[in-house]
Amino acid sequence: MRMPRRSARHILDDSYALAYPALRSAVEEFPEAIQHPVGVHFGWWDRAGNALRSNPGKSLRSALVILSCQALGGSIRQALPAALAVEMVHNASLLHDDIIDNDRLRRGRASLWSAMGVPAAILAGDALFFGSLHALTGAPHADRTVPVFLAAVQNLIEGEYVDTLMEKDTTATLDDALDMIAGKTAELLSCACTLGAILSGAEDERVQHLSRFGLLLGVAFQCTDDVLGIWGDPEATGKPARSDLRSRKLSVPIALALNENGPPAERLRALYRREAPPTEAESRVIADELERHGVRGAVVDLARENAGEALAALHSCDPDPVTSEELAELTKMILQRSS
Ligand code: IPE
Ligand code: IPE
Ligand code: MG
Ligand code: MG
Repeated sequence: MRMPRRSARHILDDSYALAYPALRSAVEEFPEAIQHPVGVHFGWWDRAGNALRSNPGKSLRSALVILSCQALGGSIRQALPAALAVEMVHNASLLHDDIIDNDRLRRGRASLWSAMGVPAAILAGDALFFGSLHALTGAPHADRTVPVFLAAVQNLIEGEYVDTLMEKDTTATLDDALDMIAGKTAELLSCACTLGAILSGAEDERVQHLSRFGLLLGVAFQCTDDVLGIWGDPEATGKPARSDLRSRKLSVPIALALNENGPPAERLRALYRREAPPTEAESRVIADELERHGVRGAVVDLARENAGEALAALHSCDPDPVTSEELAELTKMILQRSS
């Protein structure tokens, strides 16, 4: 019998506890030298090799695999290989993303490239990318899961690249930004839900509803991330303040603001087009100005709309009621999170 509904914090902690032994074993299969930077990234040990219990990340994607599997009548055991694979890919993408974004802070500590150098972070990311595939290919239903997984990873890679192409592009529309975040972030959340659903053995139609749930949830997740990227507290996010503004990213709030008329949008366009990047003081001024003009509120509303549509898709798959409530708890957390 299923337990009563857990809080979002509890769900995420449980999913990390479930995935952790498999993750440690998978990393122990890596060549010895590359295990060290991977463990530094996860906060398992420090650069000197002393054991740590530092923030390993929220484990959201593994929780989505497990809950999606349970929502359609599957078990935790069936879901675990995919939970491991998506969490590995997610972490690989973060290692490379911090190099791409030139960010020195991740999960409240030095990002791996800034602690151990770019080669260590590229190769630790590569080890996790390939390791994730290994986790899935050896597991049941690989003929169905691997193609879904590979397509999502290719979309993530494309989204990450388009993100860089869109830097300083003041002609991009809100839809361009939404397509980009669907690729770099939402595709992996959707993949997590799809894999969990496939592994439950459910029929295609129910799997498709969960895929859509994950995609819309992922858009809401990245909208919130973009809000936190401008107005979040680095103490809570564990990431640098206003890095997106200093790199002149086309995050969702910026895409919304650039497509407005009036003096604030003009000032933003000028700043995005000029030679020199915004200074720290200028990035604070932009953040305040965008907030005063309702941009933060509009992106919060957009996240809420996507989350609402996600929940409608979830209910269409006729999920187990307790699991459905837990997925709704995660959805609420995604909207309200500060980290
Ligand atoms: C950060 O994801 C990267 C994005 C897709 C926005 P998370 O906020 O889930 O990262 P961790 O794993 O909890 O650190
Ligand atoms: C999120 O990238 C997507 C991936 C890492 C693939 P971002 O650059 O928007 O995420 P954060 O804010 O650094 O976590
Ligand atoms: Mg980044
Ligand atoms: Mg990025």
